[in-house]
Amino acid sequence: MLALENVVAGYIPGVDILCGVSLSVQEGEMVCLVGPNGAGKSTVLRAISGLVKISGGNVRFKGESIAGRRPEQILARGIAHVPQGHSVFPRMTVHENLLMGGYSVRDRATLRGSLAEVYEMFPLLKDRAREKAGNLSGGQQKILEMGRALMLKPPLMMLDEPSLGLAPKTMANLFDTIQQLNRSGLTILMVEQNARQGLAASHRGYVLELGREKFHGKAHELLDSPEMAKLYLGGSTENGSSYRRRSEVA
Ligand SMILES: Nc1ncnc2c1ncn2[C@@H]1O[C@H](COP(=O)(O)OP(=O)(O)OP(=O)(O)O)[C@@H](O)[C@H]1O
Ligand SMILES: [Mg+2]
Repeated sequence: MLALENVVAGYIPGVDILCGVSLSVQEGEMVCLVGPNGAGKSTVLRAISGLVKISGGNVRFKGESIAGRRPEQILARGIAHVPQGHSVFPRMTVHENLLMGGYSVRDRATLRGSLAEVYEMFPLLKDRAREKAGNLSGGQQKILEMGRALMLKPPLMMLDEPSLGLAPKTMANLFDTIQQLNRSGLTILMVEQNARQGLAASHRGYVLELGREKFHGKAHELLDSPEMAKLYLGGSTENGSSYRRRSEVA
C-alpha cells in the first residue's frame, strides 16, 4: 500500500534529516517505527503526508508516486496523519472536532454517515459529544484525534506517538483500540517511543537511527533480538508483564 524508496528530506536546504529511508506497509498491516529521540521518526511521517519536502527518493501510495504533492492532496488520497502531541481544538466540542475532520466533505448525507460510523466505533465520543474537547482526559483526546482522522475514511492511518504521556493502563487500552481498528481493516503506520509495547501490538517494525534504517523485521523477531533489547528496548528480552504481544491479545 505504501512504499518509501530511499527518501531524503529535511527542514533546511542542505541539512538532511532523513538520509535515504526505505520502508513499506502492506494493506492490512500494522507497522511500528521506533528509534531514539531525534532519529527522524516524526519527519518520516511528515515526509509521507507532504508536510516536509522530499529532496530525493520517492513515496508511493497504492502504486502511485505522491512525492511533491500537497498535504491536502495526500490526505484526500487516503492517508490520515495523527500528529505527535495534542491536536484537538480544546474549546470546540467533541462533535465540532469531528466535523472539522470532515470539513472537505461536501455532501451532507456522506458527512452524517461518517459521523455515525465514528460514533459507532468509539461510543465514548458519542457519550461526550457536547463536551468541550479540552475537558477530555489525555487518552480520550487521543481517541478523538483518531476519530477525527477517520472522518474521511482513509485506508491508511499514521499515528505519531499515540501513547505519549498516558498512564500504563490507559496506554494498554489505547493499543487494544488501535489493534481493533487494524483488525477491522485499517492499515496502520505507528511511531512509538514505547518500543516494546508498540512492537508487541504490531506485525512488523523498523528501527530508525540518525535518519537511517538500522533494523527491520517481524515485530516478534525484533522483540526477541538481544541486540535490539540492548540498544532500543531498555535491556533484557525477557517478556515483561507490562505489555502483551499481538498473538496473546484475543
Ligand atoms: N521544524 C523543524 N525545523 C528544523 N529542524 C527540525 C524540525 N523538526 C524537527 N527537526 C530536527 O529533525 C531531527 C529529527 O526530528 P524528529 O522530530 O523527526 O525526530 P523524532 O525521531 O520524531 O524524535 P522524538 O522521539 O523526539 O519525537 C531532529 O534533529 C530535530 O531537531
Ligand atoms: Mg517525534
